[in-house]
Amino acid sequence: MFKTVLVLAALAGFAATQTITLQAESGRLSGVDIGTSVAGYTGTGYVEGFSDATDKIAFTVNVTESQLYDMSLIYNGPYGDKYTYVVLNNAGGSQVSLPSTSTWKTVPAGQVLLNQGTNIIEIQSNWGWYLIDAITLARSASRGPHNITPRPVNKNANDDAKALLKYLRKVYGKKILSGQQDQASLDWVTNNTGSTPAIIGVDLMDYTDSRTSRGASSIDVNHAIAHAAKGGMVTFVWHWGAPVGLYDTPEQRWWSGFYTAATDFNVEMALADTTNSNYTLLMHDIDTIASQLKKLRDAGVPVLWRPLHEAEGGWFWWGARGPESCKALYRILYKRLTVHHKLNNLIWVWNSVSPAWYPGDEYVDIVSADTYAQGDHGPISATYNNLLSLTNDTKMIAATEIGSLMDPVQLKAYQADWLYFCVWSGDYISAGIWNSLDLIKQVYADEYVLNLDDIQGWKSL
Ligand SMILES: *[C@@H]1O[C@H](CO)[C@@H](O)[C@H](O)[C@H]1NC(C)=O
Ligand SMILES: *[C@@H]1O[C@H](CO)[C@@H](O)[C@H](O)[C@H]1NC(C)=O
Ligand SMILES: *[C@@H]1O[C@H](CO)[C@@H](O)[C@H](O)[C@H]1NC(C)=O
Ligand SMILES: *[C@@H]1O[C@H](CO)[C@@H](O)[C@H](O)[C@H]1NC(C)=O
Repeated sequence: MFKTVLVLAALAGFAATQTITLQAESGRLSGVDIGTSVAGYTGTGYVEGFSDATDKIAFTVNVTESQLYDMSLIYNGPYGDKYTYVVLNNAGGSQVSLPSTSTWKTVPAGQVLLNQGTNIIEIQSNWGWYLIDAITLARSASRGPHNITPRPVNKNANDDAKALLKYLRKVYGKKILSGQQDQASLDWVTNNTGSTPAIIGVDLMDYTDSRTSRGASSIDVNHAIAHAAKGGMVTFVWHWGAPVGLYDTPEQRWWSGFYTAATDFNVEMALADTTNSNYTLLMHDIDTIASQLKKLRDAGVPVLWRPLHEAEGGWFWWGARGPESCKALYRILYKRLTVHHKLNNLIWVWNSVSPAWYPGDEYVDIVSADTYAQGDHGPISATYNNLLSLTNDTKMIAATEIGSLMDPVQLKAYQADWLYFCVWSGDYISAGIWNSLDLIKQVYADEYVLNLDDIQGWKSL
């Protein structure tokens, strides 16, 4: 089904200081309908029926000078948690989370850099199934200085970890560090751009028993130490295969054992009683990876350590039982690695945006998010701003996994001060689908982007 309802476009010209409200029902509507049955909307109605990928509202906005605006969305979400997609002038833009609500709510929708003259802002379907009442635009206040103390949360952090955080704080808000997941993909970047990413992203996935016992093995720790020896930085994620309860069927093979769908391992039950065998198995896995992290510590390599990532998505078993069991596991992991194993080379990177999932300021050095929005080389400013409010701008913010490279010009214009980016491996970087080779070359050549050559000697800077 595809229908187009043409309504007069909202043509708004407005003065510098004003907040403008653009009613959804006055936008140019494609594949969507005007509704009036859910009370409490502003204007004369709202827009519903976002069902097809091409469904959208287009707003026309005229401004007298180029300027950054804070955008908000007034919406209703009776069908559960959804995402919409805000696209400015057919390029860039960002994914905006619309949490479930049965009343009309206003959510920040990031920022838009409006050009002098006419601009088109589109609300595109994405997940669909929400009601849009209006958007508002207000000139962005220029942001004050970040309120970040570059001291690791671990009081016993070693000199390597302290030096890393200190250097990162020094560049935060001024530059972005380049990063690439996986040694082979990092080599591809070097071969194709002539520049090597500052940060290598690697994985502790294939070191635990439930995987090594099935034939998995890894040399990611060696790769990390080698990259650090060249003056680079290291970030580890941990696709932690459940220690037990893997289905290992043709549909859910053992190597997918970190996915909720591939195991009946129940983290909440495992943590309920510290004497049960599954709790013991979790501790055993933590001890196993501790011995890998010790190799890095002993080689003088501090680690941007990002365990229990993407928890709030629920697709990994550590997030499958909700925020409380996940936060409990994160704190147990923190204590076991820092206190028991004296791994004082770790910088703790938390990877969910929602306040409900946040384990607490005393366990987190850096906050982060993973975003995959194909075709969008914008600054992901809505997510950046949500992370800013998560800690009231007291922690640095990283783009720990991305599909699409971000345009450095937009990063600066939007004050989206991502500390580093790390592009996911394989096709995301090298197939020319998510990122063209021209764009990759352009990003790696930009003075705003710090590569391996640019960060040499960072430990003593
Ligand atoms: C917006 O700009 C377009 C193109 O310059 C113009 O045709 C239109 O009249 C303007 N609308 C308003 C409300 O200023
Ligand atoms: C990068 O170049 C080196 C040297 O020519 C080559 O050995 C290696 O296979 C290349 N790697 C990738 C991933 O392109
Ligand atoms: C441990 O987890 C496995 C896999 O989910 C489950 O079958 C088993 O009953 C659990 N053991 C305990 C003691 O809860
Ligand atoms: C956030 O930080 C600002 C600036 O330091 C401070 O004035 C404000 O009270 C803080 N707000 C919260 C909720 O902590």
